[in-house]
Amino acid sequence: MNAGVSNRSGRPVMNLFLGSGLGLVGLMLLAGLLLRASQAGCISMSADSFYAVLTLHGAGMIVGLSMCGMGGLWYLVRRRIRLNPGIAVAWPGA
Ligand code: HEM
Repeated sequence: MNAGVSNRSGRPVMNLFLGSGLGLVGLMLLAGLLLRASQAGCISMSADSFYAVLTLHGAGMIVGLSMCGMGGLWYLVRRRIRLNPGIAVAWPGA
């Protein structure tokens, strides 16, 4: 039985969320490496800068991975319920 809704625009929205989420995770990975390099004494960073990058890294990782999860959920929920892709990507005027 297939009681689902059309899945045509499900994939592009999911890919947009996955792409942006993974891109952000990639950037935050670099921030994490910067933190490790500072802890190992390879580069010098003031305590203030370290704390700023630490906060950026922690918050950015959580947001990036959450965006990936949102993309997966969008794809799955869309198979059952009609969802508006314009609202999903906050397209102006959608
Ligand atoms: C290449 C991968 C990563 C590297 C090199 C890295 C590096 C670091 C370092 C050096 C710290 C500071 C740890 C300390 O307190 O001494 C840190 C904190 C943290 N990392 Fe990562 N990390 C990586 C991946 C991740 C991932 C995948 C996540 C999320 C799932 C994550 C989330 C966090 C959070 C939440 C903190 C604490 C932030 C805070 O205290 O404000 N990290 N990371």
